[in-house]
Amino acid sequence: MRTPIIAGNWKMHKTIEEAIDELKKLQPLVKDTTNEVVIYPSFFAVKPCIDTIQGSNISVGVQNMHFEEEGAYTGEVSPKMVGEITRHVLIGHSERRQYYNETDETVNNKMKAAIAHGLCPTLCIGETLEQREAEKTLEIIRTQLGSGLDGFDADKMKDVVIAYEPIWAIGTGKTATKETAQEVHANIRMLLKELFGEETAEKTRILYGGSVKPANIVELMSMDDIDGGLIGGASLKADVFSDIVNFNL
Ligand code: 13P
Repeated sequence: MRTPIIAGNWKMHKTIEEAIDELKKLQPLVKDTTNEVVIYPSFFAVKPCIDTIQGSNISVGVQNMHFEEEGAYTGEVSPKMVGEITRHVLIGHSERRQYYNETDETVNNKMKAAIAHGLCPTLCIGETLEQREAEKTLEIIRTQLGSGLDGFDADKMKDVVIAYEPIWAIGTGKTATKETAQEVHANIRMLLKELFGEETAEKTRILYGGSVKPANIVELMSMDDIDGGLIGGASLKADVFSDIVNFNL
């Protein structure tokens, strides 16, 4: 039995004050859920948010980090710094790949650094519209998953979460149908089985991301291999996001 994770990626939204306000609204609305709830605010808001959620069932993480322990990397945050305040980190989000030149190699370095520092990384993968239309989705997924997890073994996979986020579905209002998402998720689980064996494949949570909202969470979560959601736009308002967290199958 895989515990669902409903995660909110706040991207470059919300000041510290706005983030704290929203979390205060969210806390009572999700207090009864048995799902894991994780919020990824901007770097500045992470520590104030962690202080705000003390004693609640919400966790807070960071949206990115560097892979080096320390050094002359202006503007970057190291895994050691992340580890001082949280265990949750998003790695390889498509916006990082698209706008900040993240490659499968840097993503792999970050994944390795996360595990070396005892963090729980969520590895984000997904195809562009062009790749989907060229019927290359499964090939892209295989490459991104294989290279992102290069050098990993079953033991290192214990704290890893995978997020499948088709780029054409992010912020577009176009959600993948439950069948389309399930096909890719089943494929990811099959690849995990090839790489790490059945037990690890069965235990690993695979989240779907891309225009998830209260209206489609139930159908997505009804699919065998969809273990939660990574939510952008619909995570910004506590009342909307809590409706997703509190979905009922
Ligand atoms: P939207 O939910 O806004 O489509 O964003 C998805 C996403 O990128 C989460 O990481």
